[in-house]
Amino acid sequence: MSIAKWTAPKIRSLKGNQKVVCLTAYDCTFARWMDEAGVPLILVGDSLGMTVLGYGSTLPVTLDQMLHHTAAVCRGVTSAMVITDMPFMSYQVSVQQALENAGRCLQEGGADGVKLEGGKIRAESIRALVDNGIPVLGHIGLLPQSVKAMGGYRVQGKTEEAARQLIEEAKAVEDAGAFALVLEAMPPSVAQAITEAVSLPTIGIGAGRSCDGQVLVINDLLGLTDKPPKFAKAYAKLGEETRRAIAAYRDEVQSGAFPGDEQTYGA
Ligand code: KIV
Repeated sequence: MSIAKWTAPKIRSLKGNQKVVCLTAYDCTFARWMDEAGVPLILVGDSLGMTVLGYGSTLPVTLDQMLHHTAAVCRGVTSAMVITDMPFMSYQVSVQQALENAGRCLQEGGADGVKLEGGKIRAESIRALVDNGIPVLGHIGLLPQSVKAMGGYRVQGKTEEAARQLIEEAKAVEDAGAFALVLEAMPPSVAQAITEAVSLPTIGIGAGRSCDGQVLVINDLLGLTDKPPKFAKAYAKLGEETRRAIAAYRDEVQSGAFPGDEQTYGA
């Protein structure tokens, strides 16, 4: 039985009815398992810079790398909506640059939409993308691509003024036509105020439980991250299990126990 494809209007319509479940994926196999589990929204996050490519931040990630991983994710998916996280400097330069590169995410990567970091400053680009048929997932609060300007990965919106500003940023993203909005690392009371102030679903990461949905980095969920952030919950311990399996293989090769008869043709 084929399950209908998740689209921007469908995700948007979940607000107030059903929590939005979102996960990051970087390859075909994990994307297929998420799709089979009924996860409606898959983000090919530029967190792949750290989770897969070994960088210290998202800043070195290129558009070509994002396209490569987006295409792999899309090959595993039939019904989830796949969003490409536009990497640093692939959309900040101009509205035209944002439009051209977002177009590549759909044409070459096969994505169903893109994510851009930033509120008011991004409104013109979001409007241009949406007007040209490209669904946009917004992202405010902690902006990892601005880590140098923010002075580190810090919780945002902690003062009254900063909280008020975040609500304005959220409204700007909504007015520009985004279908949903990621809220990263902010006090739960601020996330709640934003969630109540906008009509599009908010998807929290480190923003408490009042959001309309949640997103987690798949490596954090699986226990693959050595020093996970406070907001992450590991639902498995695959880091430990992977280390154990590698060591067991190493020992069996060294002792001659692998391959056994079962792994040998004609034995
Ligand atoms: O890159 C990423 O994984 C993200 C999510 C954490 C929202 O932007």
